[in-house]
Amino acid sequence: MVETKRGKLILIEGLDRTGKTTQCELISKRNNYKYYKFPNRETPIGKIINSYLSQQNYDGKTLSDQSIHLLFSSNRWELQEEIKQNLLDGKNIILDRYVYSGVAYSLAKGIEGMDYEWCFGCDRGLVKPDLTIFLINTGNADNDGFGDEIYEKKEIQAKVRQVFETIFTEKEKKEYIKDHFKQLDVTGLGIEEVYEKVESFVKEETNKDSNRFMYF
Ligand code: TMP
Repeated sequence: MVETKRGKLILIEGLDRTGKTTQCELISKRNNYKYYKFPNRETPIGKIINSYLSQQNYDGKTLSDQSIHLLFSSNRWELQEEIKQNLLDGKNIILDRYVYSGVAYSLAKGIEGMDYEWCFGCDRGLVKPDLTIFLINTGNADNDGFGDEIYEKKEIQAKVRQVFETIFTEKEKKEYIKDHFKQLDVTGLGIEEVYEKVESFVKEETNKDSNRFMYF
C-alpha cells in the first residue's frame, strides 16, 4: 500500500505591511496551497480578537494583555486539528502569521511576568512549520501609513521587529534556523520579485522528503 505523503506546512511571518498576505494568497492560488491566516477573525474567539485589535471595548472593558495573548494562542489551537488533518491528507498549507507573531507582539509590550517562556508556553505542542519565511522591510520604518489597529504604530512595530530578531537569532533552536528558516529582505522589491524568491524557497522545501511532524 502506498502511504500518502503528508503535505508541507509553510509559514510567512513578519511585521505589519511587509506583504505577507499578498504572498500567501499568491502561493495559495498559483500552487494550490490551503491558506490559513492568523488571527482567524471568523471563529468565536477570532471575533473577540477582532474587536480588541480594532479597539472596540469587549463587554465595556478592555481585555488584559494576558487574556488577549491567550486568545490569540487559543485561536491557533481552534484550528489545529483541521490543519493537521489537511497535512495528513497530503494537502500543502501556507500560514499567514502563527506562533512567532504571538510571542513577538506580546513580548514587545514589556509586561511584567509576560516573559518569553510565559508567552511561548501556551503554544507549545502546536505543529511546527516545515519552513518559516520571515519578511523584513527596512524601507517602511519611518512610514506613518499604518492602519488604525491597536499595534499599527511606528514605536510598537520597532519593538516587535527587535523581538522577532531576538527570537530568530537567540531563542529558536539553531538546527531549526539552519534547515527550516529563511529571512527575506523585501525592501524596494515589487510583488512579483518577492514572489519569485518566496516561491523558490517553497519549491525547495516541497522537494524535500519529511513525513514526521515537528512541534513547538
Ligand atoms: P493581521 O494584520 O495580520 O491580521 O494581524 C493582526 C494583528 O495581530 C497584527 O498587528 C499582529 C497581531 N498578532 C498578535 O498580536 N498575536 C498573534 O498571535 C497574531 C497571530 C497576531
